[in-house]
Order: sequence, then structure tokens, then C-alpha cells
Amino acid sequence: MKTSNNTVLITGGGTGIGFCIAEELVKSGNEVIICGRREDKLKEAKGKLRQISTKVCDVSNPKERAELFSWVTSKFKGINVLVNNAGVQRMIDFRKGIDELAKHENEVDINLTATIQLSAYFIPVLMQREEAAIVNVSSGLAFIPLAIMPIYCATKAALHSFSISLRHQLRDTPVKVFEVIPPTVDTQLDKGTRDLRNMTYRGIPPADVATAMMKSLREDEYECLVGQAKNLMEASRTNFEEQFGRMNH
Ligand SMILES: NC(=O)c1ccc[n+]([C@@H]2O[C@H](COP(=O)([O-])OP(=O)(O)OC[C@H]3O[C@@H](n4cnc5c(N)ncnc54)[C@H](OP(=O)(O)O)[C@@H]3O)[C@@H](O)[C@H]2O)c1
Repeated sequence: MKTSNNTVLITGGGTGIGFCIAEELVKSGNEVIICGRREDKLKEAKGKLRQISTKVCDVSNPKERAELFSWVTSKFKGINVLVNNAGVQRMIDFRKGIDELAKHENEVDINLTATIQLSAYFIPVLMQREEAAIVNVSSGLAFIPLAIMPIYCATKAALHSFSISLRHQLRDTPVKVFEVIPPTVDTQLDKGTRDLRNMTYRGIPPADVATAMMKSLREDEYECLVGQAKNLMEASRTNFEEQFGRMNH
């Protein structure tokens, strides 16, 4: 896959991994559009990276997803890459029942449904390009779950499966399907729950994920397993019980 002269939409591109991907793509000569819910974060991102275009959008809202698709395709005629990066991660204790669940953002809508729907919107457009890609950002937790965040892990496992099927369906089209699979990354994804869990390890810098993604695009390596995520994937096949126990003691 070429890594310059693309027009790329990154969901959740205002912060963390998404912003680092935006930085790498701009550096390599791509046109980049980012979206997110918080206007201040998008403005902050634009302050650091003047070339990008921004759009306030909640990708979990069907109407806003439809508007995003119309806006992007009318304004950026050459759009050829969609990076499904927006995500949230919540600790949810099911012993507390439905009220506890209702307190949190809907991780299925944000992490999974938005990716599926945006892919469905954009694929017919991407198929008209000479070269195009969908990049789904999943997680090493797709392979072995952390039980304290059960929905998050389930959405990432589903994203892994979805990416495999999509890649197969699109194999005879110009649309390549990549999956970026990060390990623990030092971002605000968990909104402070790593502190609550007394986790001192903050994870790798988000820029490392962006670098790995660029290499995968360049080399057409469709599953981009970053750092420890590779070990989790291997352990899920050879040593699941022991690794699950170690992570969930
Ligand atoms: N950090 C890690 O340890 C880690 C590990 C593996 C995988 N990942 C994955 O990497 C991706 C990026 O996460 P990150 O670590 O970079 O955390 P982050 O900095 O919190 O980034 C998440 C981004 O998604 C956006 N977002 C969330 N809900 C959204 C919605 N409904 N509509 C539009 N945008 C939305 C957020 O912006 P707004 O809140 O302003 O909308 C934010 O910019 C996620 O998919 C995450 O699951 C992260």
C-alpha cells in the first residue's frame, strides 16, 4: 500500500494513537481528516498540525455517521483510506446489574457498530479508487480478555473477526483491510482507571503504534501486531488458561 498521496479519515484522531497516526500520515505527504466528539481536542490537534481538517462527530450516533460520510465524500473527493480508531474502554462490574451498565457509554456502539457502519458507508466509494484501505484499530485484548473490562474486550475480539471477514470479502477489490493490534499504550483511553487499579506500567508511547502502522501499510502486512500484543495472540493459541489466569488473578 502506498503511504503518501492518500486522503485519510481517522475517527478519534484528536488524541492518543489516532493523533500520532495523523502526525505520521501528514509527515509522509497525505491529506488527513480527523473526527471526535470534543471540539476543544480537535482544535488542540489542529493547533499542532495545521494541515489537518477536523469534524466534530459522535460516531456512535447513526445520524452523525451518515452526516460524516456525506461531508467527507463531498469535500474530499479522493478519500481512499478509513482508519476506524475511535474507542472507549470501561471497567464494568456486572454484579451491580443493569444500572451500572446504564451509567457507562455504550462501548458496543462506539468500538464496534461505528466501525461496521462506517465501513459499509465507505467501501463502495473506496472500491472506485485505484488503491484503498480500511484500517481497524483493535487490541491485544481481542485475544485474551481482561475480565474487569468485559465489553471492551468483547468488542475488540469482534473487531478482529470482522477484519478477517472483511479482508476476505474484499480480496478481489482495490480495498486492503489492515488491523492494527496495539498492546497497552500510554494514552487517556482508560480515563484514569489504570491509577485506580494501581497499575504503574503506563504502556508504550502512542507514536510507536503509528510507526508500526506505517510499516505495515508499506509492507502490506495486514495484521499489525505491536509489541506485547504478539505475545498475547500467540499465548491465546498455545497457553490460554495460564495467560488468562496471570492477567486476571
Ligand atoms: N491505549 C491503549 O492501551 C490501547 C491498547 C489497545 C488498543 N487501543 C485502541 O486504540 C484506539 C485509540 O485509543 P487511545 O488509546 O488513543 O485513547 P484516546 O486518546 O482516548 O483516543 C480515543 C479517541 O476516540 C475518540 N472517541 C471516543 N468515542 C468517540 C465517539 N463516540 N465518536 C467519535 N470519537 C470518539 C476520542 O475523542 P472524543 O472523546 O473527543 O470523542 C479520542 O480522541 C481505541 O480504539 C483503543 O481501543 C488502545
